[in-house]
This record gives sequence, structure tokens and C-alpha cells, in this order.
Amino acid sequence: MLRLNPNLENLPVYQPGRPIEEVAREIGMDYSKIAKLASNENPLGPSPEAMAQMAEVIKSVNLYPDGNAFYLKQALSRKLNLPGSQIILGNGSNEIIEFVGHALLGPNTNIVVSEYCFAIYPIVAKLFGADVITVPAIRYGSDLSGMVEAVNSETRVLFLANPNNPTGTLADSKSVQDLIASVPPDVLLVIDEAYVEYLDDALDLLPYLRSGEQPNLLLMRTFSKIYGLAGLRLGYGLGSEEVVTGLEKIRQPFNCSVLSQVAALAALNDGDHLERSKMLNRTELRRYEARCKKQGWEFVPSYANFILIRVGDGAGVYQALLERGIITRQMGAYQLPEWIRISVGTEAENERCLSALEEILNP
Ligand SMILES: Cc1ncc(COP(=O)(O)O)c(C=O)c1O
Repeated sequence: MLRLNPNLENLPVYQPGRPIEEVAREIGMDYSKIAKLASNENPLGPSPEAMAQMAEVIKSVNLYPDGNAFYLKQALSRKLNLPGSQIILGNGSNEIIEFVGHALLGPNTNIVVSEYCFAIYPIVAKLFGADVITVPAIRYGSDLSGMVEAVNSETRVLFLANPNNPTGTLADSKSVQDLIASVPPDVLLVIDEAYVEYLDDALDLLPYLRSGEQPNLLLMRTFSKIYGLAGLRLGYGLGSEEVVTGLEKIRQPFNCSVLSQVAALAALNDGDHLERSKMLNRTELRRYEARCKKQGWEFVPSYANFILIRVGDGAGVYQALLERGIITRQMGAYQLPEWIRISVGTEAENERCLSALEEILNP
């Protein structure tokens, strides 16, 4: 008998949004007719600049990538005005979460999260044998002072996604500043900013890192959302030199591919694509909100690129949408069985999704 890590026994396998190919096969619909509104990707696709750069380097993928991603780090460093020694790249920001687990978690430790937090935080904690302290949400938003109060002597990490996935809620600036000031210095505060680029007046947390006054703060960002590069897997962490140096010891030398490095560098410089993506998201989120109000469907006002809508039988409505070629996300695993999460798509995809919802919910 193999003696698998006992932490694996009760660990759920993360269920991502279903891929288009699989659904196309299952319902017998053409790939091109399926709308995937399940994983908060950019409906406009990758930046054209990123695609051009990838085409350029495709002939050299026989070579390993630059393990230190010199040019991408240099560009991030300039853009963020932060030394490269405070930046770590991950194979998606999910990998940064895993680095945090390796660096800080084990038996007799715990993490503090909010109810309805991003699913990977508790999965990684349990993988490393750590406990998860879940603080009840307030109207679907994270209770930041409650989270600080929940910290105890075994707490090693407090995770906050802001905006949060899957609720789309945003903690206000004052609460975030208070949180940063009150988390004990021996607890790593991870603020996950996967959706920060969608905000108009995002609270800028970089000064805390530049000044060195907050060595226990780690910010996470990603190229998977507004930058439209989810398929390439590239995220990054920003923290003190002490934290980044620690996490760098865990990182595999070639965790970021040649293609992801050049695409991310190009996407970073493609301000037009970023702005188009942000504007589309804003307009289309308003479409969802207006329609929910008109139809009397409860929704959580969103600050990200998706929206949570209360549909009653979440699993049933998810399935009914799936049969119409629209992939959304059911929320049972988040203890929100009456809700589905819909990622903002193109105008045509959103109209199609909303019409289908009307047909299903208000026949
Ligand atoms: C809050 C949050 N953090 C991190 C991620 C992971 O993103 P990636 O690993 O693609 O960078 C996601 C993806 O959905 C997310 O919603």
C-alpha cells in the first residue's frame, strides 16, 4: 500500500471552469458556438502585440527560458517602481499561493480567510497540513476586522483577495489600511490583486513595499485576467526582499515559459488593449446589473470582471445554460448553491447569456 500524504485524504480536487472542447463534445455543439463565461478570462483575447511577440519567439522554444525573466522583471520593476529583488514570477498567481504554502505552512499552523474566499487558499493550506480559520462574511464581503481578530499564535498567513472572487466585492481603502496596520508582523498578509486593473481608483499598496515599512505584506497580481493571457500561466508576487528571497528558493528555475515571458512583456506595454478591456467590462457589467434589476434577480454588485447572480437552483440553471452552449460556474463548492457566477463576455455573449437566463428563470 502506498502511504500517500495523509493531508490529501480530505482534500477536494479544484474544479475549474469547464473547457470549451469538453462541453462542445458533450452537447454536440460546434466549438465556435460555445460561450465560456466561467473563468473570468478576457473576452477580447490576448493583446495583438503579445501574439506578435509569441510568433517571433516560437522558433526558439527548443531552448529553456531565461529562468530569471530578466526583461519582464525589468519592465515590471520600471512600471511599478520597485526593485526586481521585490518581484517574484509564478506559473500563474496560483503558483505564488503554493510558494507561500511551502514557505510558511505546516501542521500546527493556520491561515485566516474570509467566507467565500478564492478556493485555492484553503486547498493549499490543507495540502500542507495547516488549519483554515474562516471568518463569516458580511453581506458577501470580507470582514477585515473580524479577520484580524481571528488571528492567533498559530496563524502564519492571512489571505485577502481584493476584489474578491467569487463575490466581486471590494473592501474599502480605510479597512485595508487598518488591516495592514494591525496584522501582527509574524503573519504574512497576502493581498491578492488579481482583478485590481479593473478598478478606477484602486488603493495603491506599493508605497508600503517601496518604503520597506511593511515586510509582512505580499501582493499578488496576474496576467490571466485583464491582460488576457490565462492560457500562458503567468502571475507575480510583490513583497519585501526578505519574503521574495525566501519564496525564490522554492520556485522551480524555469517556471515561466519563453512564450509567457515575451507575451507578458508585450501585454504590459499595450495600454490600448488594457483600456479597451476595462471599458468593455465596465459597460457589460452595467448591462448585467441593469438586467438583474429589471428581472428582479438578486446580484452582488461587482468590482471585477464577473457577477454573482442568485438563480435559486444554481446547479440546475448552470446545467440549463450549459445545454444552450453557455458555460458559467456553479457555486456549490463555495457554499452558495443558489447562485451562479458569470464572467463578463463580449456584448453578444452577454446578451445571449442574459436571454437564456430569462428563458430559464422567467419562462
Ligand atoms: C482571486 C484570484 N486569485 C488568483 C487567481 C489565479 O490566477 P492565475 O493563477 O491564473 O494567475 C484567480 C483566478 O481566477 C483569482 O480569482
